[in-house]
Amino acid sequence: MKAPVRVAVTGAAGQIGYSLLFRIASGDMLGPDQPVILQLLEVSPAMDALQGVVMELDDCAFPLVAGIQASDQAEEAFRDADYILLVGAKPRGPGMERKDLLEANAAIFSAQGKAMNAVASRDVRVLAVGNPANTNALIAMRNAPDLDPGRFTAMTRLDHNRALAQLSGRVGAHVNDITRMTVWGNHSATQYPDISHTLVKGSPAADQVDQAWLEETFIPTVQQRGAAIIKARGQSSAASAASAAIDHMRDWTLGTPEGDWVSMAIPSDGSYGIAEGLIYSFPVRCVNGHYEIVQGLDVDDFSRERMLATEQELTEERDAVAHLLP
Ligand code: NAD
Ligand code: LMR
Repeated sequence: MKAPVRVAVTGAAGQIGYSLLFRIASGDMLGPDQPVILQLLEVSPAMDALQGVVMELDDCAFPLVAGIQASDQAEEAFRDADYILLVGAKPRGPGMERKDLLEANAAIFSAQGKAMNAVASRDVRVLAVGNPANTNALIAMRNAPDLDPGRFTAMTRLDHNRALAQLSGRVGAHVNDITRMTVWGNHSATQYPDISHTLVKGSPAADQVDQAWLEETFIPTVQQRGAAIIKARGQSSAASAASAAIDHMRDWTLGTPEGDWVSMAIPSDGSYGIAEGLIYSFPVRCVNGHYEIVQGLDVDDFSRERMLATEQELTEERDAVAHLLP
């Protein structure tokens, strides 16, 4: 057994938290030989509910859980944290876009960025799940100047997984047979799920679907999937979001499969002409605990137009929270 690592989760008494914590505790995120100390953060009025979740975690008697702490103070919950999953934020309701949450949620990520800057492990890995996730990750990153900016990421893995599921249904192949899916840009309706480089059983996916399906069904379905779940369930996605967060952190830490890649929103280094510093989703490979952007992919005019549209939206979101970006 390895030494325990500290995993902080915000919004721990919420919907996503209720799916996420039990999977982290059972070893799905960091592996069956990695004990974890859970450091859970909630707002004060939700502390009773959080105590109930802690009681249930205790009652699972998970072999990998080396400790559980619950707090309503970010500096307590983030102390020495090796992983921080920023879930705590207001979800959108029917008829809203995720960026409508900017005003309500931005202040949370600025305060929490400062807290992790003060107390988290210098090697912390941060994942923003709360919406609008990319810009919230940017706010946290810019408020944590002593931490490596590359450690701040946002979740587009749910979009990536949704794209795999849609393509799998269309071509009649299992998701395991599909590799090299890419989601570019923002976790929003402007995201660009791109199958130009995707393989199905080793052959180009683009040869197995027609352009009309791609433009009129695949891309809008993936872009609008969050809204479709809200319409059907009356609440935003939770178990699938938790599952994607597990996938994101697991692959970042333990590596992506040989020959494949995943989508992660990370600080742009200017690759593919995307403005440096925006938290933009790229195709990445992860090795030895580090991610790197897959370079050298051909980008045709159809893709370029969509990659720029989602970049433009991220620029506007960034400008709207300029007062929170030191
Ligand atoms: P929820 O309302 O069920 O839970 C959110 C929890 O966060 C609540 O318990 C609330 O008390 C807590 N919280 C609020 N402010 C906090 C703070 N300052 N510190 C700590 N905790 C705080 O919502 P949910 O369904 O769990 O969704 C959480 C967020 O995740 C939403 O913003 C939602 O839009 C987003 N989301 C993102 C993705 C993605 O793919 N990136 C997918 C699904 C949901
Ligand atoms: C999702 O994609 O399911 C989440 O971001 C929730 C939402 O508001 O759509």
